[in-house]
Amino acid sequence: MTTYCDLLITGAAGQLGRTLMTQAKALGLNAVGVDVAEMPLDSREAIETMVQKVRPSFVMHCGAITNVDGCEAEPLVAYRINGMATAWVAEAAARVDAGMVYVSTDFVFDGTLEGTPYPVDSAIKPLSVYGASKRIGEEAVLAHGRDDFYVIRTSWVFGPGGKNFPRAILNRARAGGALKVVTDQVGRPTMTHDLAEAMLDVFKLKPAGGIYHAANEGQCSWHQFAVDTLAAAGMKNIDVGVQTAADLNLPAARPAWSVLDTDKLATVRGKHLPHYLDALARHVPLDEAAQADAAATPGGASSSQLRGKQY
Ligand SMILES: NC(=O)c1ccc[n+]([C@@H]2O[C@H](COP(=O)([O-])OP(=O)(O)OC[C@H]3O[C@@H](n4cnc5c(N)ncnc54)[C@H](OP(=O)(O)O)[C@@H]3O)[C@@H](O)[C@H]2O)c1
Repeated sequence: MTTYCDLLITGAAGQLGRTLMTQAKALGLNAVGVDVAEMPLDSREAIETMVQKVRPSFVMHCGAITNVDGCEAEPLVAYRINGMATAWVAEAAARVDAGMVYVSTDFVFDGTLEGTPYPVDSAIKPLSVYGASKRIGEEAVLAHGRDDFYVIRTSWVFGPGGKNFPRAILNRARAGGALKVVTDQVGRPTMTHDLAEAMLDVFKLKPAGGIYHAANEGQCSWHQFAVDTLAAAGMKNIDVGVQTAADLNLPAARPAWSVLDTDKLATVRGKHLPHYLDALARHVPLDEAAQADAAATPGGASSSQLRGKQY
C-alpha cells in the first residue's frame, strides 16, 4: 500500500511525543506529529480521517490521559481516550497496513510480584482507573494479532520540557519548600530520550509483534529518586523527608512494586536502556534549559487538567 510518511506520532505535544518527533527527524524520517488540535482522540472519525490522509507506514501512539489521579474522577474520559481511542487508532492503522507501537504502563500491575522484575507476560491487575484504561488499550492492539503491532510498557517517565517528577522536586527545593516523598513504591524511572530511541529501534528492527518493556536500568523508590535528582542538580544538602503511600493518600492506588523486566527488548536491541542515574544527569541541565525557554515564550506552557501527572 502507498504510504505518504514514515511515522504518525500521536500525543506529539506531550513529553514523550516531542522527543520522538525530534529524534525521528534527526534520523531523516518523515514524521507527522498530531495532538488534540489535529486529531482529537475522542473522535473515531478524526482518527480515521487523519490516518487516511497521512497514510503512515507506522504509528507511534503516545496520546493519552496521563493524570492518574484525575482519571479516578473522570473514568469515562479515561476509558474513552486511553482505551477506546486506542482501538480506533489500531483499527485505522491496520486499514492502511501500518504497524504501530502503543505506549502502555507499569500501572497495569498490582505490585504483588515484589522483589522480581515484572516479565512481559505477568498477570495483569490494575489498581487504578488509569491502569485499567491503559490495559483496555493494550488488549485492543494485541487483538489484531499483527506481527508489527507492539505494546511497549514503560514507567515513571521524565524528560526535558515535560511535567515531570524531577522538575517538581527541584522547583520545590529551590523555592525553599519542605520535601516529603514516598518510600514504599519502587519502580524504574525512564527518560523520554532513551525510551524514544528504543521505540525507534523497534520501528527499524521490526521484532516479533507483542508486548515489550522499556525502562531505564536500576530501580528506586520515589524517595530515592528525589534524593538522586537533587544530587544530579548539585543540591546534596537538602533534606528529603519520608512518607508512605498511605500517608499521602492519593485518589488512585499505585503498585508498591512495578519494576519492569526489560530483557526481552534488550535481546532485540543488543543493549538495555542506560541506568536512570545516567539519564538524570543528562535530563537536569536539558530540563533547566527547556524551562528557561518556556518562560521566555509567551503562552509557552499550557496543559489540560488531565495532563501528565503520572507520579
Ligand atoms: N508519564 C509517565 O510517567 C508514563 C508512564 C508510563 C506510561 N506512560 C504512557 O506514555 C505515553 C506518553 O506519556 P507522556 O508522559 O508523554 O504524557 P503527556 O505528556 O501527558 O502526553 C500525552 C499527550 O496526549 C494528549 N492528549 C490527551 N488527551 C487527548 C485527546 N483527547 N486527543 C488527543 N490528544 C490527547 C495530551 O494533550 P493535553 O496535555 O492537552 O491533555 C498530551 O499532549 C502515554 O501513553 C502514557 O500513558 C507515561
